[in-house]
Amino acid sequence: MKQEDRDIYYTRGLSVPETPEPGKEPEPWGETNVIGKRRPRIDAYERVSGAAIYPSDVLMPHTLYGAVLRSPHPHAFVKKVDTKKAEAMPGVRSVICAATPEADLRWPYSKEMGAKLFDPHCRFEGEAVAAVAAETPYQAMDALGAIEVDYEVKPFVVDERKALQEGAPQVHEGGNRVGKKSVYERGDVEKGFAEADRVLEQTYRTECELHTPLELHGCVAHWDGDQLVIRESTQGVYAVQQRVAQVLGLPLSKVRVIGHYLGGGFGSKLQASKYTIIASLLAKKTGRPVKLFLTREETFLCVGNRPPTNMTLKAGVKKDGTLTALAFSCTGTGGAYPAGGTALVDWLVRDLYTCPNVRTEATDIFTNTGPARPFRAPGHPQGAWALEQMLDALAAELNMDPVDLRLKNIPTYSQAREGNPPYTTTGLRECIEEGARAFTWEESKKRIEASPRNGHLRRGVGMASCLWIVGGGGPPSTVIVKLFSDGSVNLNMGASDIGTGTKTVMAMVVSEELGVKPDMIQIEHADTGTTQYATPSGGSKTVPTEAPAVRSAAIHVKQQLLKMAAEDLGGDAAGLRFEGEAIVSKSDRSKKVEVKSLSGLKKRGVVVGVGYRGPNPEGKVVNPFAAQFCEVEVNTWTGEVRLLRFLGANESGRVMDRLTFDNQVYGGITMGVGLAMTEFRVLDRNTGKMVNRNWHDYKLPTALDVAPDMVSLPIELKDAEANNTGAKGLGEPVTIPTAAAIANAVYHATGVRITDTPINPYRLSAIFAERLKEV
Ligand code: MOS
Repeated sequence: MKQEDRDIYYTRGLSVPETPEPGKEPEPWGETNVIGKRRPRIDAYERVSGAAIYPSDVLMPHTLYGAVLRSPHPHAFVKKVDTKKAEAMPGVRSVICAATPEADLRWPYSKEMGAKLFDPHCRFEGEAVAAVAAETPYQAMDALGAIEVDYEVKPFVVDERKALQEGAPQVHEGGNRVGKKSVYERGDVEKGFAEADRVLEQTYRTECELHTPLELHGCVAHWDGDQLVIRESTQGVYAVQQRVAQVLGLPLSKVRVIGHYLGGGFGSKLQASKYTIIASLLAKKTGRPVKLFLTREETFLCVGNRPPTNMTLKAGVKKDGTLTALAFSCTGTGGAYPAGGTALVDWLVRDLYTCPNVRTEATDIFTNTGPARPFRAPGHPQGAWALEQMLDALAAELNMDPVDLRLKNIPTYSQAREGNPPYTTTGLRECIEEGARAFTWEESKKRIEASPRNGHLRRGVGMASCLWIVGGGGPPSTVIVKLFSDGSVNLNMGASDIGTGTKTVMAMVVSEELGVKPDMIQIEHADTGTTQYATPSGGSKTVPTEAPAVRSAAIHVKQQLLKMAAEDLGGDAAGLRFEGEAIVSKSDRSKKVEVKSLSGLKKRGVVVGVGYRGPNPEGKVVNPFAAQFCEVEVNTWTGEVRLLRFLGANESGRVMDRLTFDNQVYGGITMGVGLAMTEFRVLDRNTGKMVNRNWHDYKLPTALDVAPDMVSLPIELKDAEANNTGAKGLGEPVTIPTAAAIANAVYHATGVRITDTPINPYRLSAIFAERLKEV
């Protein structure tokens, strides 16, 4: 092979890290060749050109199209379903409903509570009532319209603020409380408030936000003999496999789930849905592949949301800014089934700032609405909306800078966890300090406060900070790296790339260890039939969970190559090291063998390395930290808020790919802008139905709504303990503080504190109008 040809595979002239002896943990990377660089996606061309085949693109021969009939009522009882007319319609091949036996399966909405697949008791608008498979999508839709359902419409409650009132309609027989009120307590809050120089109390509300991934939810299911094969838009192929096997009573080995590309999920595709079971049943009945993707309207109703929250926070603080007590209570709703309506909403109150006396309580409530699902940093943006506005208000009360107030209360250990374990790294201080410096916080405040404030355009700056409760996990994660006889590489892992660049980062890890160019690495992933077990991609844990296993697998390859070289060259593998494309003796550089010439490799044709994720460090907590800063301009005539600048400072351990890192920051801030300013579910109080279930009326922030000036500032603390890559996860912390930072900036600009989302012109102009009346 000519030199130029070899350059196709290898990164030119680059060294690879030392290879630890078998059984030993590798050293943290020193100078890196690939990791930390701005590396475009290895599948960028496929994604941008449209060549990438997403599950919703899959079209198999003889495919039928599935569609689901859903309850139009928030609360109703199905008395009778008549499918006769639908069955006789052109192109219709199968109709299933509560009356057909295969649909008499139990769907577990949660560990505690389930329903039938087509349950006659429909507890939310959008619950499945029947389904059709037909030759074309239009025939399937038409057939739905021909199914006659006799509903007994029942009284409903869709507002959690009314669901615990006397006489409220009951979602379930046991009442509208989900389990018991959860209470957390440390220290003595009453004592803490007594010690405080200032005490503030405020209520806050966040509206229900909908996941709106670009790719709709759905799958293509077909039976290959007795094996069910599902191509699904999912964050976790193994999670779907387990749920489908459980519901259909199949062994795991008979359910293959494939999910190569994914057009977004944000938590709503961490789990399987009823539609997967429905498509599988229709495919079984018809003996044909069934493609079942929901409509956009359906996804708004029945595949998850970020629960609305009602929060009260009372905070005590000393004159010098020391927090003495926090008392927090919260109600929320995960909808009609247990779905974590208040999950993690109080976590930041418990753990973000040093505070000896904390009490939190949370009440989760059933309502006749679609079940919630984890949504990018479950609970955290809601909690930050309250806590970070409260910190801002306390700072104003004390005449202190909000930055200084936060710096006064930085923890080094987790106060809310048993035994107060320390964090491996606590970048909160660095995020706030370096973020403030890069944003020119002090100067910006001075500039704004010195400018005349008599016009209708008012500027303001705001900031907020956060941590995220997860920092990678494992085991389990098993990864296989195969080195072929020509030196090119195959990486095999079960994890999904949910659009965050996982494949690219993993290829970079292999590249760093083996010296092979990232483009030369073929990746097999997210297929229960051919790849290793992996937990779903979520919790910002995909990189910190999978990358260490990938690194271990690559090292395992190197260890075997060194052993082969020792056999060829004589001596001990420990006396050898990699040099470019060859392996040389550390003591005698003339003893050398090219990797591709190793006789062991020639004989076997391939070297297979297996890597496992070790546990997180015992007795320590791995959490990412962040702070965000923004500048806004508020029009007090129209109530419009323009975002001028945003800066996100993130301490997520090692930066793996600077390009995907920055893109996560921009994307997370954009999503936070949605929660703060534009997104909310509107339920009609008279009918209980969602009225803005489309992309026209449900407003996602666009490029025109975000700040034209967005800055990503990585705070790269070395974390040698988190895992063997030092990465801690990024996808979720980037969206937690955004809404609160905007609210704080609006307050700085106008003196108006918006405690309820969304901060929109409608709401702001009403407040300004009130104010005008007062003066
Ligand atoms: Mo995320 S809500 O864990 O996909």
